[in-house]
Amino acid sequence: MTITRLVTLVREIVTRPGFCHAPQDVHAIVEHISRVNCEMLGLENHRYMKKRKRRQKNRQKQNQDSDMILYQHIFEDEHISVGVFLLPKNAIIPLHDHPSMSVVTLGLFGSCRLMSYDWKTDETRQAQQGEAILIQNKVMEPGDVVVCHPTSHGNIHSIQAIENFAMLDILIPPYGESRICRYYEVAPPPETTTLPSSADGAKQRPEDFVPGTTHWLQGIPEPTLNLEHELYLGTPAAVTQLTPLPNLIFQPAIAHEAA
Ligand SMILES: [Fe+2]
Repeated sequence: MTITRLVTLVREIVTRPGFCHAPQDVHAIVEHISRVNCEMLGLENHRYMKKRKRRQKNRQKQNQDSDMILYQHIFEDEHISVGVFLLPKNAIIPLHDHPSMSVVTLGLFGSCRLMSYDWKTDETRQAQQGEAILIQNKVMEPGDVVVCHPTSHGNIHSIQAIENFAMLDILIPPYGESRICRYYEVAPPPETTTLPSSADGAKQRPEDFVPGTTHWLQGIPEPTLNLEHELYLGTPAAVTQLTPLPNLIFQPAIAHEAA
């Protein structure tokens, strides 16, 4: 598998007549993305990975990672967007959604806590506020693939890096004018003033949230993320773009920091 092959296969699937984000359609992509690894993406020498290895050798070493999230953009056309997110330990991508999109995510190195929700009813979905069901609360590790669909399978999700963590994301289709990411927080329901508590009265930790339980989600303004774009240093996707994008919205890439 190469990144060119992956992009080609995914585009074949999503441009088939009748593709409608049905679970069986999107799950066909899982098999392909599962064959991707860090080496293919030029990440084997990435500074996050090097620091992880150094810490494994010397566990007394202080974590000196920046808290900056990095994004490497690999490919985009009107059908799909492919890129790598690198999160330093403890970094958080807060609860957000991917409206009218499917997302296939592969863990590349490190681990994270993934929490994902679905709106409980069409009414709450339309209101973008209200009761939502916790679909997943799991530790995601290298090789794990997570899929969310436009209105189900945890389209609203957050990611917190337990250790330096990298993931490959395929968005189907990319964000656009009618597909704008929105952010949320778990809030007390209107009739209460406090978040759910554990038996001893302490606030619930993320790992204590039980899948299947209902929570109140509240839309919030877009938070300021400490995120920068950096150059993707893996093999480029040598694919003719079906519809080249005239004006990519991405910020200028920055070079890798010297290791
Ligand atoms: Fe996401």
